[in-house]
Parts: sequence; C-alpha cells; structure tokens
Amino acid sequence: MTKIEKIVLSYSGGLDTSIILKWLQETYGCEVVTFTADLGQGEELKPARTKAEMSGVKDIRIVDLREEFVRDFVFPMLRANALYEGQYLLGSSIARPLIAKHLVGIAREVSADAVAHGATGKGNDQLRFELAVNALDPSIKVIAPWRQWNIRSRMQLLEYAEKHHIPVPSDKRGEAPFSIDANLLHTSTEGKILENPAEVAPDHVCQRTVDPVDAPDTPEIITIGFESGDPVSVNGKAMTPVALLTELNRLGSRHGVGRLDLVENRFIGMKSRGIYETPGGTILLAAHRGIESITLDRAAAHLKDEIMPSYAELIYNGFWFAPERDMLQALIDHSQAFVSGEVTLRLYKGSASVISRASPCSLYSADLVTFEESAITFDHHDAEGFIRLNGLRLRSLAARNGR
Ligand code: ARG
Repeated sequence: MTKIEKIVLSYSGGLDTSIILKWLQETYGCEVVTFTADLGQGEELKPARTKAEMSGVKDIRIVDLREEFVRDFVFPMLRANALYEGQYLLGSSIARPLIAKHLVGIAREVSADAVAHGATGKGNDQLRFELAVNALDPSIKVIAPWRQWNIRSRMQLLEYAEKHHIPVPSDKRGEAPFSIDANLLHTSTEGKILENPAEVAPDHVCQRTVDPVDAPDTPEIITIGFESGDPVSVNGKAMTPVALLTELNRLGSRHGVGRLDLVENRFIGMKSRGIYETPGGTILLAAHRGIESITLDRAAAHLKDEIMPSYAELIYNGFWFAPERDMLQALIDHSQAFVSGEVTLRLYKGSASVISRASPCSLYSADLVTFEESAITFDHHDAEGFIRLNGLRLRSLAARNGR
C-alpha cells in the first residue's frame, strides 16, 4: 500500500462515514481531516462535529455551501431543463462535483495527499467524486474504502460498527434506515424493500412532501419571477437563490409536488430503483419552461431540447468538470439572455401547473396569432406557397411509391 500522509474525508457524520473515519485512521495511521458540507440537508450538523471530535479528529471543517450549491450548480442546471431519462431532476448528481471541489480545495490548503469518500463500488457517486477530483487536481489520490475493505454488505457494516462502539442510527420505527441522500434540491431514498421494483413503496419512505391525497383541497396560486433564465422572486418578493428554493420547497411539500418513483440506469451498468422528492425543483422546471415558452425562439428552444438529454447524462455520469459540459453550458447560458418575466402556477394535489406567463421580452404576438381580424398584415396566400413547397418532396414520393 502506498504511504499516505494526510487525508481529507467527505464526512456526513452518519454511520458509513463514521466507520470510514475509524477505518482510515487504523489502516493508514495518518491524520484525517473531516469535511462536512452543509447543502441544506436539513440535518443538524453539530453531531458531525461532536462525533469527529470523539474520534480524535483535530481539523474539522463544516462549511455552508448552500448558496454556492444553488447559485452555481442547481440554477445553471435548471436553465437547461435537465432531466435524466426524462424524469430525474439530478438532485444527488449535481451535489457531488461541488463537494469534490471543496475536498480538493481543503486538501490543497492542508497539504493532504489524498481525499476519501463513502460512496460504494456499485453506485454513480464514486464516479462523480473521482472524475471531479481527476479534473481539478490529478495529483490528489482518492481513497474509496467501500472498494478496498472486506466489508461486503450493510450487515457486515453494522457488525463492524458494533465491534468498534460506533453508534448505529435507526429510523423512527427502530429499523435500519434506508440509504438516503438529501440536500436543498431533493431527497433520494434507496435500498431495503425498494430494491424490489415490483413492491409498492411504503408511505413512510417520503419525508419532505405530503401525499398528494392528503394535500389541501384548495389550490395555491404562486408567481415566480425570472431574470435571464434564473428565478429571482416568489410572489413579487425578491429572494436569494437559497431563500427562493427554500420557499418553493415549503410550498411544494405542502401540496405534494415533486414525488417520483423511478427505475433508472446507473452509469456503472445496473438498473436501480429510487424514490425522489424534489418539490421546489419540480415547480422551477415547470415555471422555467413556462417563461421560455414565450421568450425563446422556436429553433433556439428546440436546439436546447435536443442537447438536454446529453447535458443531463453528463451530469448524471459525473462529467460536470469536463469540456463538453462547459461547451453545452455556454450554449444554454447564451440562450437565456431574454428569459425574463413572470410565471404563475397552480399547486394542487401533487401538480404544479403553469396558468399564465408574461414578459417584457416576449416573442408572443396575440395580434399575429389571433383568430379575429388583426392590424398585422399576414397574407394568408403566403401559407399556400409555404405548404406547396414543403409538400413538393412528399408529392414526388407519393407519385413514385403510390401510397
Ligand atoms: N440514484 C441517484 C443518483 O445516482 C441517487 C444516489 C444517491 N442516493 C442515495 N439514496 N444513496 O443520482
């Protein structure tokens, strides 16, 4: 084994990373610095400090990354209307490059030669962490204990915890918890009974949204303001990115917006089933498409839609810090210059529907589209020639094929 002098560990204070901390200290016999990112996961972060202290960690970093997360990662991604496999809003995928960026930053600051993470060998997150570290500083080594130690299952993990007197958390019902990843954008739940996609997910899986069935019987009308592609206000009140997403999460949760039960294709090769809750993000996607619908040119909008699946796949697969993502981002950002205005939505029993939109930069012309008489001269005869020329090749084909 290569000699490692100092490690920066991405540490949540949960069971997995608590065990990893112990294992790193024992295996490498070197100093481990812990880094805990506050991404708005809604958990107290003090226990992470206490647990790290108890494990003898001297350098404990707990950093509030919420603003950077929403402003520089979530909002740029939402400009693209990014969805993986048509449905997943990429709430975990988009957080990893940010965590990796700060792992690398701290590693440089404290002259550590390695970083470590608690992602398993079967998932996507290992790729996202490590591809980002590769892109940002190839001199830093990455330690992935889940791929190195001989713990092979969650059961064995619990045994290790018991042996080393590491407290094992349980959920409200006293059972071992699901594998959960949460931040300001989403909560994702995997594992246990969810591993059988034929099983209906039990009610208690969802933690931050009400069941649409139990949501209020009265709809709630909200208005979101956009400037150059980014949301800037809710109901006329200007908000910072974090405050805005927090407020939309609150509203969406109340109305059961943004639940998703999905079987997806992992980059590493297998299919997996997860339950996602993305209340604010779901509202923002609908609203952003709403404002784009009146401010984007048709060809521009369609080009965006063509590249969107590739862009989403890059983020899913861990290529945030890759040139092709930068190139697509430049295209997406360029398209957003006039994506400003207001969108009104109705939140009701799990749905977020756009009901009106308005913009000072609108391309929509009621005068042009109207069924009534209009002041704009639109010569209906032009449409005849337009159809005749577009039909030219279809007529040739029909004549030959005799359809
Ligand atoms: N499958 C999701 C993704 O790859 C979430 C992964 C992390 N979630 C979890 N519950 N462990 O982005």
